[in-house]
Amino acid sequence: MVVKKIAKKPKVENSTPKKLVGGTIADDNPPLRAPFSIKLVDLRKALGVAPATMSEIIKEFDPSATAKRGVARSIAPSVVRQILAARGYKFPRLAKRISVMISKGGNGKTTIARNLGQRLSSYGFRVLLVDTDMQGNLTSAFSLEELGFEIDTETYILHDVLAEDSPLDDAIVRITENLDIVPSTSLNSMLDVWIDRQCKNQTRAFVDKIEAVRSRYDYIIFDCAPALSRTNSAAIGSSDMVILPVIPDKFSQHGLEQTIKEIKLVQREVSHKIACKVVFNRFDAREATSVMYLGEVASTYKNIMFNTMIRTSADLKNSIAMSKDLFDDYRSTARFDIDELTREITELAQIVRPQRKPGRRSEQVQAR
Ligand SMILES: Nc1ncnc2c1ncn2[C@@H]1O[C@H](COP(=O)(O)OP(=O)(O)OP(=O)(O)O)[C@@H](O)[C@H]1O
Ligand SMILES: [Mg+2]
Repeated sequence: MVVKKIAKKPKVENSTPKKLVGGTIADDNPPLRAPFSIKLVDLRKALGVAPATMSEIIKEFDPSATAKRGVARSIAPSVVRQILAARGYKFPRLAKRISVMISKGGNGKTTIARNLGQRLSSYGFRVLLVDTDMQGNLTSAFSLEELGFEIDTETYILHDVLAEDSPLDDAIVRITENLDIVPSTSLNSMLDVWIDRQCKNQTRAFVDKIEAVRSRYDYIIFDCAPALSRTNSAAIGSSDMVILPVIPDKFSQHGLEQTIKEIKLVQREVSHKIACKVVFNRFDAREATSVMYLGEVASTYKNIMFNTMIRTSADLKNSIAMSKDLFDDYRSTARFDIDELTREITELAQIVRPQRKPGRRSEQVQAR
């Protein structure tokens, strides 16, 4: 009798970290982690339907989920996408390109880019995050090291794509089935020099690379460094919208003015419209300065302010520092604020009324 040896599983803690290499899409590799799903209760609120109606919708689109009960039940992004489409939501034909930018540091650009990206993906949008900041904070915000990946000088970044004139795909890493990232390392500090020396039309430096992948995504989000740099002008030139996070302090308002001026300059050089949208971050109603600055910003920029503002919340810090999923905690104000911002950006409110399709069960499903 032949005795088969059972191979020992390699211990995870001793295994050598894998290189975080791009091109995972081209190679058809599996994503690094499971998708960010959405709680049933959140989806129900976004759709504006009663619990009984939501159960009907789930029975139709995700019969396997009906066995599981409770508000904690999660719905996969692919199912959410089908539900939204069936209810008449129009996904963008070409990705909407968004830069999160302000020349002042520490205003929450990365925090917003990361959590907005996650939340968009849980609503079923196909998202590409582009880390243009040499600090690489957005890249580390997904705890890829914990998944056994090493980000180092060999990691393919935006600078390499431009300098070697290779497709953006070579740098894209698939985090989940519908959330990708172009990572960044300190070597992206050379991006500015490269654009300065090599690009005739600097504000268009990224346009062609982004355009080549645009039809595969619904949203492409650039996380930018706190600067007025060539790289940031190029990000603005490749954007349909710039989100400007402002926090309650004097320097932040100055940064806001500077950045809006820069956007206006870039706008003159490109043919498409670039929208500026200000989001008030780190609001705390208990602080007099917070209320004062909110008043100032809201009156000066009332035409370009998001309705949503993001309150100060330790959960936002924890979501990155401790890889805690922000959307798991029902008491978190940050969870509510980021969700609201996501729905404002995507205009998800338009899906409240269902589309009628003869012969489908959704015909009987009425929005309330
Ligand atoms: N609403 C908030 N409540 C509490 N902490 C917040 C909030 N928004 C951001 N922070 C914290 O503020 C710090 C700076 O945030 P973040 O790194 O996102 O800013 P940034 O604008 O990207 O910074 P940089 O300009 O250096 O890139 C982080 O520690 C983050 O957790
Ligand atoms: Mg940042």
